[in-house]
Amino acid sequence: MSQAFDAARKLDDTYVMHTYGRLPVEFTYGSGAELVDVDGKRYLDFLAGIGSVSLGHAHPKVTEALMRQLDRVWQVGNYYYVENRGELARSISELLSTTTDEQGHVTGSTGTIWRSFFSNSGAESNEGAIKVARRWGERALGGASGIVTARQSFHGRTLATLSATGQDVFHKSFGPLPTGFASVPLNDAAALEEAVTNPSEATGPVCAIMLECVQGEGGVWPATFDYLRFVRELCDKRGIVMIVDEVQTGFFRCGAPFSYQLAGIQPDVVSMAKGIADGFPTGAVAARANYADLMVPGDHGSTFGGNALAAAAARATVETLVDEGIGEHVIAVGAHLAKRLAALPHVTEVRGHGLMRGAQLDVPIATPLVERGLQEGLVLNHIGDSILRFLPPLVVTEAQIDRMADTLATLIDELA
Ligand SMILES: Cc1ncc(COP(=O)(O)O)c(C=O)c1O
Repeated sequence: MSQAFDAARKLDDTYVMHTYGRLPVEFTYGSGAELVDVDGKRYLDFLAGIGSVSLGHAHPKVTEALMRQLDRVWQVGNYYYVENRGELARSISELLSTTTDEQGHVTGSTGTIWRSFFSNSGAESNEGAIKVARRWGERALGGASGIVTARQSFHGRTLATLSATGQDVFHKSFGPLPTGFASVPLNDAAALEEAVTNPSEATGPVCAIMLECVQGEGGVWPATFDYLRFVRELCDKRGIVMIVDEVQTGFFRCGAPFSYQLAGIQPDVVSMAKGIADGFPTGAVAARANYADLMVPGDHGSTFGGNALAAAAARATVETLVDEGIGEHVIAVGAHLAKRLAALPHVTEVRGHGLMRGAQLDVPIATPLVERGLQEGLVLNHIGDSILRFLPPLVVTEAQIDRMADTLATLIDELA
């Protein structure tokens, strides 16, 4: 370990809270799907800043937009109009109303107008989504406030989004948590219908169903397209809000602009963050007009949300994703990634869509694989001891996928 890294590690370990088990590397430079550490060693990145560096590291279009904005104005607050924010919100609306086939190829548009509220993170976007749904419950459903989520889901680290997260491990120690949430197993239509029609004490009358189309942090578990269509029908039948958490799956991660489009449905409220601004901290919650318009001045806010820097970075990112036809690229290289993963030793199943993939191992070596991967110049990620999760920058090439898969095959043979 170099002196430069050793000094960085000592400072961080002393003065930064230990909420993450950190790997022994400090990255100081990135381009596309490549990273370079403080000692000049190169890596192929298959995590992309936990799924947020959509266009690749330091994409010139986003850098240029940020540099231009840095020289103008950064922060004025949401009492005022902000350059680029309207164009950004219009692009998001157009992407949300896009229709695709089950692979993600664009087929048309529903023409729906969506209105966005800009936040700074995925958890905050979900907080906004919960508030919109509860406002709907208050106005249209006689005060219903319950929200049914999915087991193994992940919605964030604020107290309400922890409550929404259907994993008991996250509920320990930090109570009391906000009430009104219950989770049911993903893809179990009967359990969901029961939770909505005969609500438990935990939720009381239900105003919304909230779910990820592919559970990311839970281990890359996709909802089936039939299940998503069932959720849409159930929400229509009961007059409740369908919230889709697209924080990890959105902005072409799964090939389509948003992952619900693969199932041919349109939700009522969508939360997003991660890939929206190529790694600049930004999020948004968007709602169809009849839900969005229930929120009036004073109902929700954020000092920094959608500020001039965020709007510039996100507008440049979203427009470049569209201009470069990234969806078609993701569909093609995503299929290649899935094929290469499925052929690896000890991989029993490959899940997910596009460039959001999980490889299930039949040996509990995921943690040492990630550590050895780093030594070999691969940025990998694991969930638990037998799932590898792949979220590369969306610009990753087939050749880079091949290099990663070849190295990974050797490492699996070494460790299994
Ligand atoms: C589906 C989903 N929702 C919400 C979040 C929380 O996002 P953030 O960490 O930006 O608050 C995450 C983060 O991984 C996520 O994957």
